[in-house]
Amino acid sequence: MAAGFINGGGGERKDYPGKMMWRMVITCIMAGCGGLIFGYDIGISGGVTSMAPFLQKFFPRVYHREELNSGGTNQYCKFDDTMLTLFTSSLYLAALVASVFASFITRKFGRKPSMVFGGLVFLAGAAVNGFAHNVAMLIIGRILLGVGIGFANQSAPVYLCEVAPAKHRGKLNMLFQLMITVGILAANLINFFSAKMRWRVSLGCAGIPALIFLIGSLCLPDTSNSLIERGRLPEGKEQLRKFRGVDDVEDELADIVLASEAAKQVEKPWSNLLRRKYRPQLVMVVLIPFFQQFTGMNVIMFYAPVLFKTIGFGSNASLASALISGGVNCVATLVSICTVDRLGRRFWFLEGAIQMFICQIIVAICIGAKFGVSGNPGELPVWYAGIVVFAICVYVAGFAWSWGPLGWLVPGEILPLEVRSAGQSVNVSVNMIFTFIIAQCFLRMLCVMKFGLFIFFSGFVLVMALFIYYFLPETKGIPIEDIAEVWKTHPYWKRFVDEDDDVARKNRFSGV
Ligand code: BGC
Repeated sequence: MAAGFINGGGGERKDYPGKMMWRMVITCIMAGCGGLIFGYDIGISGGVTSMAPFLQKFFPRVYHREELNSGGTNQYCKFDDTMLTLFTSSLYLAALVASVFASFITRKFGRKPSMVFGGLVFLAGAAVNGFAHNVAMLIIGRILLGVGIGFANQSAPVYLCEVAPAKHRGKLNMLFQLMITVGILAANLINFFSAKMRWRVSLGCAGIPALIFLIGSLCLPDTSNSLIERGRLPEGKEQLRKFRGVDDVEDELADIVLASEAAKQVEKPWSNLLRRKYRPQLVMVVLIPFFQQFTGMNVIMFYAPVLFKTIGFGSNASLASALISGGVNCVATLVSICTVDRLGRRFWFLEGAIQMFICQIIVAICIGAKFGVSGNPGELPVWYAGIVVFAICVYVAGFAWSWGPLGWLVPGEILPLEVRSAGQSVNVSVNMIFTFIIAQCFLRMLCVMKFGLFIFFSGFVLVMALFIYYFLPETKGIPIEDIAEVWKTHPYWKRFVDEDDDVARKNRFSGV
C-alpha cells in the first residue's frame, strides 16, 4: 500500500499570519450554540416518549400496551407505534426540507441571517410544544423545531470553518458538536428531574437553548468569506483583521478573493456540484452523513431510556443510564477537540470506528444471550446490566470523539466556496433523511431484528472504516480555500479533478 494512500494524499500546508484571538473564540462558541438546539432536541424526545403521563395523554394505545406488557411477553416490541415514532422523526423531515431553503439564504444573504432565522423559528416551535394539547400541536411544534434546526445546521458549521484559522479549524468547528452533546445532556438532565409529571417542562425548556442561540447569532459578525462573496470587500477585510488580530492579512485575503471570484462565476451551485471535478466532495457530503447515521448512534440518543427499559431497567434507572451515556458523550467530545488538529481527521475516524464495532458486538452478544429471540429475559442480574451500560458508554465515547464531530467538520471544510452552501445543504439533508429513517424505523427494527440490530449497525461501521481508509485524504492544517488541492494528489480522486479546468488555482500554486 502506497504511503500516499494511507495518508490519503496531501495538500499545500500554508500558514497565514494571525493570533488565536479571544474575540474569535467567543464568536465560535456563540455560533457553536447552533448545536445546542439540535442536541436538546435529540435528547428530549427519547425521554418524554418514555414518560407515562405523556404517553397517557397523547399515545394512550402505547401506554396501555406498555402497562399490559410489564409482566412478561415480548419486550422487543412494546414501544413499536407509528404515531409515536412520527413524533420523534417529523422534526428531521422538516429540517431536511428547510436546509434546501437555508442554502439559498446562506449564500445570498450570509451565514448570520440564516442562524438568526433558525433561532427564531426554533423558539416558536418550543412554545407550541410546551403548550400542546393534542398530537397535531405536538407535530406542528416539532416541524417548527425542525425548520430551525435545518437553518442552524446549514449555517453554523460553515460559519465556524470560515472563521477559524487553518491550524485551529478542527477544534473550533468541533465546538458545534460539543454544543450538540451539551444540549443532549441538558435534555437528559431535565428529563430525569421532570420524570414524574412534567413533560411540558421538558418540551418547553427547548426555548432556553433557542434564546441563547438567537441572542448569540444576533451579536455575531458575518464571515469574511461570505462578505467578500457578496461583494463587500472592505468590510470582509476589516473583519478578517479583527478575527486574526493582525494587520497583515493580505495573503489570506487574496486567497478568499480568488475563491469568491470563482464562486461568482457559478450561477447554479446545485448543478455545479454535479460536475466531475466536484465528485470527491459530492461523494463525501453524501457518504459521511450517511455513515454517521448508520453507526446506530441515534438509536442510543433517541431511545436510550426506552432501550434501557426494554432490557429490563426500571423507569428511573433507564433515565439515569441515559444520563450517564449523555455525560460520556459530552466529555469524550473534548478529547477530540484537544487532539484533532494534531492527530488529524483520519486517525479519529478510524479509531472511533474500530471502538464502536467491538462494542456493538459485545452489546449484541449480551442482549442475545439473555433475551434470545423470544424477548423474554426472566430475572436480569445487576452485573449483566452493568456490562451492557459499560459497553454502550464505550461505544458512545467512540462516536463522540470520531464520527460525531467529524461528520460536521469534514463536509464543512472540504467544500470550495463556489459550492459550499449547496454542498452543506446536501450534507444536512442526507444527515436528516437518515436520522429520520433511523428514528422512524428503530422501534420496528428492534421488534423484528431483535439483538441482530446491533450486528446490522456493526456491518456499516466496518464498511465506513474501509471507506475512510481508502478514500478520505487528510485535511488538518490546510487553509480552507486551498483544500481543493488535496484531491489532486490522492491516488483515486486525482483522475476526477480536471487540472485545466482550474487555471487560476494552478497558476497561484505554481507562483505565476
Ligand atoms: C449527529 C446526531 C447525533 C449526535 C450525538 C451528531 O453529530 O449528527 O445525529 O445524535 O451527534 O452526539
